[in-house]
Amino acid sequence: MRRKIVAGNWKMNMNFEEGLKFATSVDRYFRENPPVRGVVILCTPFIHLSGVSEILRDGKVALGAQNCASEASGAFTGEVSAYKIKSTGAAYVIIGHSERRILYHEDDKLLNRKMVLALNSGLQVIFCCGEVKREREEGNHFIIVKRQIEEGLFPLGAEEVKNIIIAYEPVWAIGTGLTATPDQAQEMHQYILVLVKYKYCIKIADELPILYGGSCKPSNAAEIFSKPDVDGGLIGGASLKKEDFIAIAEAL
Ligand code: PGA
Repeated sequence: MRRKIVAGNWKMNMNFEEGLKFATSVDRYFRENPPVRGVVILCTPFIHLSGVSEILRDGKVALGAQNCASEASGAFTGEVSAYKIKSTGAAYVIIGHSERRILYHEDDKLLNRKMVLALNSGLQVIFCCGEVKREREEGNHFIIVKRQIEEGLFPLGAEEVKNIIIAYEPVWAIGTGLTATPDQAQEMHQYILVLVKYKYCIKIADELPILYGGSCKPSNAAEIFSKPDVDGGLIGGASLKKEDFIAIAEAL
């Protein structure tokens, strides 16, 4: 019952022209070969949003941003609000990526604020969670993810959670080539769904997609996605190569 999703996260890669060219070829592929199962999303830097939105219009690929401001509008030099993102034609925004958490010190309280603004603007949110290497080695990965979910997600009401997608991204697997095993992904996804079930209800848990992220590539995507509670992937490095991104989306 949960939606299947593959979302590419370009991070701070590709200049404007490269991004439009890349989006054009991905768009063309999926118009010719519509995804049979699931949603394909490109999460681009802000500068690409309106241009890529034109390219993807009426096609088979959706558009998302990688972050949004924690304020709605006003004197916040350099920030981009959820409402402005929505006005480009984007439908999704990633919130709480570990690079934002670690490098920009974004905590779950702030992330929840961003999520509320994003949801109020009509965006769907890809909310990221995941432990760092030391936390896993010390056996604290469940505690860490539980805290992120409780503080970031659980202040939201049941209606709001319907527009959330969770991405479990163990930080030690992001961009490192070290992928979580399909069983490690499955056990964390299952754990998150149990938390969601007890906080909200079975129906909400049954409809909340959970993506895996962290060195997902064509060679491991199918095996990871075959797990019952893995509903797709958030793809970084491999989303920058058209063939790899398409192969991962096809693995759904
Ligand atoms: P990766 O990144 O696929 O390059 O590991 C995933 C992510 O950061 O979302």
